[in-house]
Amino acid sequence: MTGITNINDYREVKMDRVSTGVEGLDSTIEGGLPKKSITLISGPPGGGKSIFCFQFIYDGAKNGEKCLFLSLDKKAEGLLIQAKHLGFDFQPAIEQNLVKFLYLNISKKFVYETMTNEILSGDYDRIVLDSITPLSEMPIFMRTSMDNKVDTSMVDFEEFPEDVSLPTRRLHLRYILSALESTKSTSIVTSELPVGTSLLSRDGISEFLADGVITLSLDPTMDRRKLSVMKMRNTKHTLKPHDIVIDYGGIKIV
Ligand SMILES: Nc1ncnc2c1ncn2[C@@H]1O[C@H](COP(=O)(O)OP(=O)(O)OP(=O)(O)O)[C@@H](O)[C@H]1O
Ligand SMILES: [Mg+2]
Repeated sequence: MTGITNINDYREVKMDRVSTGVEGLDSTIEGGLPKKSITLISGPPGGGKSIFCFQFIYDGAKNGEKCLFLSLDKKAEGLLIQAKHLGFDFQPAIEQNLVKFLYLNISKKFVYETMTNEILSGDYDRIVLDSITPLSEMPIFMRTSMDNKVDTSMVDFEEFPEDVSLPTRRLHLRYILSALESTKSTSIVTSELPVGTSLLSRDGISEFLADGVITLSLDPTMDRRKLSVMKMRNTKHTLKPHDIVIDYGGIKIV
């Protein structure tokens, strides 16, 4: 029981917030991402999605939180070099077992199982999945085990049909997101967007399944970048795009 007796009391109930590590962003979303939420960061190539993820994980490590960076695009070594160039040296936090970078090769068998096991067993405070796009474009083959739980041991990415239907993708994304949801962690999932699309994610589904959606966009003609908070559950925020810059130290709202 919360002891809440009228509607005004609800306004007093503050959600726990998790800082994003992006300078200027937290104050626009009531202090940060809602704790235990899943936020989709979508944008075109070079939009700053991975940099956003670095900032989020670096911020967590700075606070002594346990963080996981799941990469489906690039191997850990390349990511660590990219991050270090921007001023994020993860090596000390990795050595202290605060941060783990895990590269998952999507074409390998059991990748799905490896990923969910790590998410479920790692006791992480923050998890990043960069990016969800390769997963959302792969079908999954699942067998129902004796106790009616989904058995991922049948997942085989080396044999799949050309056409991945929408219901299959939805099931797939739901499964990933529900693995994230069932942990105590606050998560970020990125989605690649083709330049000029009006969709909020490549798959057209994850924006509905996530608790929050932040888009990063580019205007090459004006040499400008923007960040927009399109959705954030339990949060009052503007829909107006914020001007951002990317520099040493990452993304900054200007
Ligand atoms: N040191 C830097 N100073 C200024 N801008 C930088 C710096 N490092 C990277 N950038 C900018 O950030 C972009 C890369 O950002 P990031 O890797 O986060 O993009 P992304 O959205 O993850 O792209 P992709 O979908 O290709 O993975 C570069 O294309 C460049 O424009
Ligand atoms: Mg990237």
